[in-house]
Amino acid sequence: MPKVVKKLISKDFKLYLDCKTILIMSCDKKILITGESGFIGSHLINFFVSKYSNYEIHGLDSLTYASNRDYNKTIENCENYFFHKIDICNREDIISLFKQHRFTDVIHLAAESHVDNSIDNPLLFAQTNIIGTLNLLHAFKEFSKGRFHHISTDEVYGDLDVGDLAFHEESPYKPSSPYSASKASSDHFVRAYNDTYDLPTLISNCSNNYGSFQHPEKLIPLFINNIINNKPLPIYGNGQNVRDWLYVEDHARAIDTIFHNGKIGETYNVGGFNEWKNIDLVNLLITKMIFKGIYI
Ligand SMILES: NC(=O)c1ccc[n+]([C@@H]2O[C@H](COP(=O)([O-])OP(=O)(O)OC[C@H]3O[C@@H](n4cnc5c(N)ncnc54)[C@H](O)[C@@H]3O)[C@@H](O)[C@H]2O)c1
Repeated sequence: MPKVVKKLISKDFKLYLDCKTILIMSCDKKILITGESGFIGSHLINFFVSKYSNYEIHGLDSLTYASNRDYNKTIENCENYFFHKIDICNREDIISLFKQHRFTDVIHLAAESHVDNSIDNPLLFAQTNIIGTLNLLHAFKEFSKGRFHHISTDEVYGDLDVGDLAFHEESPYKPSSPYSASKASSDHFVRAYNDTYDLPTLISNCSNNYGSFQHPEKLIPLFINNIINNKPLPIYGNGQNVRDWLYVEDHARAIDTIFHNGKIGETYNVGGFNEWKNIDLVNLLITKMIFKGIYI
């Protein structure tokens, strides 16, 4: 908050409120970030709230098991931050939120994101990742004029084997799980809204993220916990599958760049140039934990 507004708090609270209203009315952008209480969303919203004091930033999340409001404790008292507990599958709630706040832009991360869960419950993934995205696109088309940035995954391109070249933006879609199929479908809808309604959309497809605040069901935290607790390490197949790993704060910076400078209608792949066979990654984790004395 600018110093001049801070000074007014102690002098005259009403005047301060007026100043806050003016500040918010004159904000450069009013951005909705969906999935803000999840792993990547929480890093992104923390980054945006602290970097862009001239933007009004609204976080949306339905607070599923994958979320954690603690991640955003550091920003909860920031003047430019607002939270909405809303399910993106509830079309009426989404429409009335957009009607009320007239967001200029959307960065869309809310999703069911765990591949194993998608095998048990594909319909939930179709509902959240496809219908939820459509609800947002529809509301954005009616009420917003800025950019709709859809965060997707490189899993829409399928799997990499040892020796395969990295995926690129023109790689054919070949999703292999209900999760990646639902994300692929949402990507197609975003492109269709760009083509059909001229909606200013952007898509970024990133590789596997790692870093703090990741849910313990995901590969790296799961393996670390299992190593600590001497439990088996569930590696798919013979561990030869290759994944690229991207540090979550680097991803947040990439989203910032793409959101602000990306070309409308484009797709951007984001990776860490950091490919590991699953088996090598597990061995690396074990070695590091032995070295740090966490695992003997
Ligand atoms: N984590 C990765 O490695 C990775 C890689 C590539 C792409 N992505 C994509 O990035 C996005 C964020 O991933 P993440 O790892 O932070 O996921 P996450 O599971 O940690 O967080 C998802 C968030 O979305 C919320 N959410 C789920 N359903 C919702 C609904 N119906 N309405 C409102 N909110 C809902 C959850 O409560 C949660 O806070 C997802 O779209 C995912 O597909 C993630």
